Amino acid sequence: MFNIYQTKAGAHARRIRMPQTQSFPGKTLAHPAPHAPRIFADSATISDIEPLYKAGIITGVTTNPSLMKKAGAQSWNDAKNKSVNILKLLHPFPVSLELTEVTEKAMIKQALDLAAWGENTVIKVPVGGYNGLDESHDPYTGLKVIRALWEKDIRTNATLIFNSTQAFWAAQAGASYISPFLGRLADYAYKNDHPERPPGNSLYWIEDHKNADSDQFTYNTEYVASGGNRKDIGIRLIQEIAVIFTNYDIHTEILAASIRNVTQLSECLLAGADILTVPASVLQQIPYHPLTHAGMKTFYDDSLVFDK
Ligand code: E4P
Repeated sequence: MFNIYQTKAGAHARRIRMPQTQSFPGKTLAHPAPHAPRIFADSATISDIEPLYKAGIITGVTTNPSLMKKAGAQSWNDAKNKSVNILKLLHPFPVSLELTEVTEKAMIKQALDLAAWGENTVIKVPVGGYNGLDESHDPYTGLKVIRALWEKDIRTNATLIFNSTQAFWAAQAGASYISPFLGRLADYAYKNDHPERPPGNSLYWIEDHKNADSDQFTYNTEYVASGGNRKDIGIRLIQEIAVIFTNYDIHTEILAASIRNVTQLSECLLAGADILTVPASVLQQIPYHPLTHAGMKTFYDDSLVFDK
């Protein structure tokens, strides 16, 4: 249903225009996966980020005000110091720093400041929510800021994406990345699921509620949760966005965010994400599998009979 226009050739054409995973000048053995999806750390805590970066696992970082606070920042100056340290460590790889201003002029000014902290800064711009903070605020502020920064050659990451239309609008405005929030969508779907309406049957839920004004904005969210063999609402969203971006040759990167477990990682790859931004606690689980541990122990024990 979702991939009638998507072709392997179309997906390939889009991928080969994506940034390379890594480049290794002078190497004779070509890297086998130069356009593979990249892994970023979703953290502002340098002690989490540094070992992952030095191990070659991550090639980017995403932060937000909540992660900054969690990392111990108690003032703008603290946040600046932490950001600059991450930018220096990761250079030249991208680090997303989120705007804290909420009006167009102030956001553009703040974005220029953040961009001056490092050439690898990516400005994270909430796609909407402005008139939710204050009714007098322009609801299109995020899109306008993304467009203004694109005009200034500054890369943006459109954040708090919860449906494919938001993703498309942000791409159209000029965002380099869009961040769909998978975990928060899963929480939403779980909380709003009806016992008599199993996950994946949310189309019925829409039918039941379509006349209620308060539900108008969640139609797409519920639609994404409907049908198909993948019941994860967030994964369905990634799939939708990947098909739309492939169909229209859109090179904005799909940065899967709000990831809560290892299963979601492979689901995101199957669905067509370009980048996964992952908390350190989830990345640390990847090497673990009970059979990997048991197999390793057997091989190690058996190797002890050899003279070295
Ligand atoms: C993405 O860029 C955000 O920083 C992050 O993934 C949000 O995750 P959460 O929903 O677990 O807070």
